[in-house]
Amino acid sequence: MTANAISVRDVEVRLGGATVLSDISFDIRESSFVAIIGPNGAGKSTLLKALLGLVDTSRGTITIDGIAPRDIPAAWAGYVPQVKALDRDFPALAIELVATGPHARWPWRLGAEARAHALEALELAGAKHIADRPAGRLSGGELQRVYLARAFSREPKFILLDEPAAGLDVAGEADMYHIIESYQRKHRATVMMITHDWDGARIHASDVLLLNRTNIGFGPPDTVLNDQTLLQVFGHKGHTHPKTEGTRHD
Ligand SMILES: Nc1ncnc2c1ncn2[C@@H]1O[C@H](COP(=O)(O)OP(=O)(O)OP(=O)(O)O)[C@@H](O)[C@H]1O
Ligand SMILES: [Mg+2]
Repeated sequence: MTANAISVRDVEVRLGGATVLSDISFDIRESSFVAIIGPNGAGKSTLLKALLGLVDTSRGTITIDGIAPRDIPAAWAGYVPQVKALDRDFPALAIELVATGPHARWPWRLGAEARAHALEALELAGAKHIADRPAGRLSGGELQRVYLARAFSREPKFILLDEPAAGLDVAGEADMYHIIESYQRKHRATVMMITHDWDGARIHASDVLLLNRTNIGFGPPDTVLNDQTLLQVFGHKGHTHPKTEGTRHD
């Protein structure tokens, strides 16, 4: 076990002939909850894919517990991808979608043991009650929970989430943070989550990676998410309201 769960050194990623990420360096301690924040097209999803070994780096090194992304055991990482649209006629039940997590193949015939395991993961994600609903008919928020359950189903020590709160209502979002943090405590998991929710990141993340094709800042939320860095990255300081400004993060 290395001191840092995830180590990224001078990483560059090129896609389709263009440099999408350059000079990315940061270290993540075990059991951290890191929020990745940045504008659309900043390379956030690309960075998660590089950490998972789904895209190659053209320079630099990434190690996960000392191992290169392409060599990490599949069970180490649970991934919730950004695009979650599912054809309405996709012939799978919610629970079958979860059960493909540990096996990464389709079609999947659900045995009693796999079903019990998938049900546990669904329960953790607050979605046990929708286990036997057709996956294509679930609402956006319900489907998010199913994908969360799928990521948990391997009991991974790394959880990589690409905008998991997208489409969730306020209660669903709070629930999602609770679910992730409970899992994290139980398994001492390291979590990286892409989000556009600055306030959620301030409250829940131990560190924030502010990204815009390169890393602009990395560290505790209060240090990184200051007006100056946000203006630099977004040209904007976020939502403010005269009545709540200054007190909204209390
Ligand atoms: N396979 C690819 N080939 C060429 N360019 C790509 C590819 N994938 C992504 N890109 C480009 O890389 C840039 C970063 O994309 P990425 O999806 O990582 O951004 P993001 O920060 O996740 O944005 P969003 O907030 O919109 O999800 C974009 O300009 C995108 O068009
Ligand atoms: Mg993205």
